[in-house]
Amino acid sequence: MGISLRKDNIICPYFVIGGVNRKEKIPSFPGQHRFSMDLLIKDIKELKALGINKILLFGVPDSKDRLGSHAYKNNNIVSLAVREIKKKFPHLIVFTDVCLCAYTSHGHCGIIKGQGSRVKGQEKFMDIKATLNALAKIALTYAEAGADCVAPSAMAKGEVAAIRKELDKNGYRKTKIMGYSAKFASNFYGPFRNAANSAPKFGNRQAYQLSYTDTESAIKKIENDINEGADIVMVKPALSYLDIIKEAKHRFRHPLAAYNVSGEYAFVKYGAKQGLWDEGEMIKEILTSIKRAGADHIITYHAKDIAGWLK
Ligand code: PBG
Repeated sequence: MGISLRKDNIICPYFVIGGVNRKEKIPSFPGQHRFSMDLLIKDIKELKALGINKILLFGVPDSKDRLGSHAYKNNNIVSLAVREIKKKFPHLIVFTDVCLCAYTSHGHCGIIKGQGSRVKGQEKFMDIKATLNALAKIALTYAEAGADCVAPSAMAKGEVAAIRKELDKNGYRKTKIMGYSAKFASNFYGPFRNAANSAPKFGNRQAYQLSYTDTESAIKKIENDINEGADIVMVKPALSYLDIIKEAKHRFRHPLAAYNVSGEYAFVKYGAKQGLWDEGEMIKEILTSIKRAGADHIITYHAKDIAGWLK
């Protein structure tokens, strides 16, 4: 018997912006848009009609500052969207990304100590305590809005535990956590950074994301997040990291997600445009390989493209 991908393996990412009646194309991210809430609801309706029932929300705010404060103020765009989505589609499973990179003026994923430092080792670069406080606050805001699962992606040490504690303290024991556990400093994030307008303004993310040369740190980080209480752990990106997915599944037997990221998606789209391959066949092969490696959940921008042929 072969591997068969199912609709309930798929999570569809979305970018939400403020205002009304806005649907913006994203440079270098073919087929993807930023939606204002009203048009987001319309698109989710189409997704639901195709039988996909899980989404992952990213907010793209109009204004940014050093501390990323839009992310944790009341009535931030993601919370507003979650409330509206849950009103319209109470059974839709809503994941929300919890990070600061789209909200900070410098584009880094946490609250940073000083400009210009490119040191290795995240304690020297990030103010971990302030970052964990901010992330916990963001997660709580999303839980209050009705998110089913919050997904910390800042790679700040202790983020899963800090969020679990904050949620439990406030009576959100049932809200789940998906850790972006093994998140690599990757070249594959280009189109996403255009979408979220979140490219770092100086330095890079190597102080806090993992090196692709290092399997052991990735496995340790996954184990750490499971111990901190992650309900789902993630490997990101997916395609160049199938070995990590497989290893994580075998070692831990824990619910596992893989993020088929923006650069992987763009390869397929640009190649198909050049007539290099059949787009649908290529997507099937790629997503099946990610499931075959051991992913239970696949986050992919191809969700609407491929729903038609899945059971
Ligand atoms: C960072 C974040 C990234 C992505 C989602 N959240 C990566 C980054 O900019 O370092 C990338 C997702 C994609 O490429 O599809 N919080």
